[in-house]
Amino acid sequence: MVRYADRAANVKPSTIREILHLTQQSEVISFAGGLPASDLFPIGRMREAADRVLSDAANLQYSITEGEVRLRELLAWQSAELADPSNFLVVSGSQQGLDLAGKLFVNPGDAVVVEAPTYLGALRAFDVYQATYVAVPSDGEGIEPSGVEQAFRNGARFLYLNPNFSNPTGRTMSERRRHQIVDLAEEFDAIVYEDDPYALLRFSGEFVPPMITMSSSNVLYAGSFSKILVPGLRLGWLSGPVPMIEKLTMIKQAADLHTSTTTQALAAEALADGFLERHVLQVRAYYLVQRDRMLQALTAHFPPGTTWTVPEGGMFIWVTLPVDLDATSLLSQAVAEGVAYVPGAQFFPNGGGSNTLRLAYSVATLVEIDQGIERLGRLIARSTS
Ligand SMILES: Cc1ncc(COP(=O)(O)O)c(C=O)c1O
Repeated sequence: MVRYADRAANVKPSTIREILHLTQQSEVISFAGGLPASDLFPIGRMREAADRVLSDAANLQYSITEGEVRLRELLAWQSAELADPSNFLVVSGSQQGLDLAGKLFVNPGDAVVVEAPTYLGALRAFDVYQATYVAVPSDGEGIEPSGVEQAFRNGARFLYLNPNFSNPTGRTMSERRRHQIVDLAEEFDAIVYEDDPYALLRFSGEFVPPMITMSSSNVLYAGSFSKILVPGLRLGWLSGPVPMIEKLTMIKQAADLHTSTTTQALAAEALADGFLERHVLQVRAYYLVQRDRMLQALTAHFPPGTTWTVPEGGMFIWVTLPVDLDATSLLSQAVAEGVAYVPGAQFFPNGGGSNTLRLAYSVATLVEIDQGIERLGRLIARSTS
């Protein structure tokens, strides 16, 4: 028998991938996959940019691990201290940032502190490094500081958070809470991994500063081009203190030398001359309409006893069903009736959340949102009574 490394025992099949298979049946209305709406992809702009990119052989050559300076300059939108390209590392999708951080910060058996529920892809990335999880509950302002403090007191030194319009809950952490968490990280010399792929997708409420602007030493920030341009280029970035970025750069070099020179050049070219700022306005307006339609449909069709979040940006609504309903067992019936979602239990590393589910409003058409939510509402009402 082939002998795999111990860490391979922790690699589990991804339920998300299984669910995405379901959604490829065209008759199923899918609120499952959190894909960006392909109607928003600026294809004409990218085609013209590609033409220019491909006329320069340097864009097809090997390049430096840190990433294209033009792209890193475009990213220097954060605090004054982090306005230098040396604070940035371009990665192959922000998902790669999770893997690199796992390599840098997580020893086998280490406790990674997460909010419960949290982004499934982060759990799967840290699983490979044989992480264990401390799941800290959250309230309306975000992860509870007392739980984080306790975890740090017990020896944990790595905290993963997705503070804006979180995947899966759609909730946003308050500014006060961000300061509290950063203060704790500094006190215990712990790292906060601030995963922020939805940052620019705010369509209501007030901007809340990222934690990276609140600490010059203990926060590693991850951003993504997937939701503001296209996910197919696989482009994201890490930003943080220079010594940390240097370590991550060496680790990335060992993994893949560098992110594709060609896709980096394409993104830099497509987003230049203020296109990024103009384009995100369109992206936000689009998702606001989608969100409002889903909220209206939920109000119209979901039975009493069911509650949901109202996100100020991003792509997700988190639904809590009456306690005796199990969203995982309900899924096969939902798919049989032509509608899919992600059962919330998936997002809890240590169990719980059986009566919760995640709905993405990004991909479905407005008519599909009405029909899908009506079907789901009927199923929930039938299962409750
Ligand atoms: C919270 C979160 N982090 C990271 C990612 C990975 O994004 P990408 O690798 O496309 O940048 C996603 C994708 O959906 C996400 O929701």
